[in-house]
Amino acid sequence: IEGHSSSVDPFALVGADLAKMTRSIRETVSVLQHPVLDGAASHLLSLQGKRFRPIMVLLMAHSTAMVAPVVPPRLLPSQLRLAEITELIHAASLLHDDVIDVADTRRGAISVNSLFGNQLAVLAGDFLLARASVALARLRDCDVVELLSTVIEHLVRGEVIQMKGGIGEVFGGIGDVTEQARDEQSSYHKPKTQFDAYIAKTFFKTASLVANSCRAVTMLAAHPKHVADAAYQYGENVGIAFQLIDDMLDMTASEDALGKPVLNDITQGLATAPVLFALEEFPEIGPMIDRRFKQDGDVERTLELVEKADGIRRTKALATQHVQKAVDGLVSVLPPSEHRSALINLGNFVLERQR
Ligand code: FPP
Ligand code: MG
Ligand code: MG
Repeated sequence: IEGHSSSVDPFALVGADLAKMTRSIRETVSVLQHPVLDGAASHLLSLQGKRFRPIMVLLMAHSTAMVAPVVPPRLLPSQLRLAEITELIHAASLLHDDVIDVADTRRGAISVNSLFGNQLAVLAGDFLLARASVALARLRDCDVVELLSTVIEHLVRGEVIQMKGGIGEVFGGIGDVTEQARDEQSSYHKPKTQFDAYIAKTFFKTASLVANSCRAVTMLAAHPKHVADAAYQYGENVGIAFQLIDDMLDMTASEDALGKPVLNDITQGLATAPVLFALEEFPEIGPMIDRRFKQDGDVERTLELVEKADGIRRTKALATQHVQKAVDGLVSVLPPSEHRSALINLGNFVLERQR
């Protein structure tokens, strides 16, 4: 990322917060008197993921505390809770996602749907979502409840767009916060090209959670709007970059390295960034996308053309542009700090990650 070099380790910097969060998550999801529900609900959370989302939320809380020098920079209990809620909503969506994607591994272990069956996996996801909702309500901040509830709508919307196509007007949400969010997201609602539609889907399924969580964590500390906006745009851009790299790794990495199935997108009939870049050069990919790569040889031929068209490198370049935008926006609003440097490094980590 141009203009910035820093060696601050984002993970180490919020290590103590994360340890607290992990303990709190264990309490939040434990189900007394029902070992089966308890097992299904805690299986995924007992496996350490990258914790990319809570790390971002925590770093955002710390680095925005610096804009109000009269207030000693510290993490509010509600902000730690929000990091936890973000991770719980994410975990719930993964339980449902693995059912939809028929994935038998997650976080390097057997998936909940493989271990307990689809029915229990869906219920366990609902359960985590319910516990996240209770924790959210306990923050006693209606605007934050509204933002995170809209995120849940967006997760579903993104998943349905991916499955069935079509991007329509937003439904749900009538409050001020959602109105504002709607303006910000207007470009995602009427995409003009197939590539724009892919980016819009990506916003809904991945970036909305981090963008709105970053905004919410600044609202909990009553930071001014320009700070909330900077936090949101950072989360939005790094979130989109994260999914671009995810879609790239689906084509380039091994199941061993990722801890989850690979070539999952194309075998499920999904055209992601590398394929859409290749399509610009090789229109013969079009019909294969339309028949969802179902004909014999479609997958192999498309992968060949992705390689020829440099689709992987172009995907990474686009992700890099998003991270650059995220970082430029952040440094124009937040004063320099260790935590701000860590957010810059987190952007780099998203680009360089191998899993
Ligand atoms: C992972 O994508 C999935 C998501 C980012 C969102 C999934 C959302 C739902 C299933 C909607 C239901 C939501 C809730 C809150 C219960 P991926 O399949 O591309 O990534 P992967 O390679 O990690 O599986
Ligand atoms: Mg999926
Ligand atoms: Mg999946």
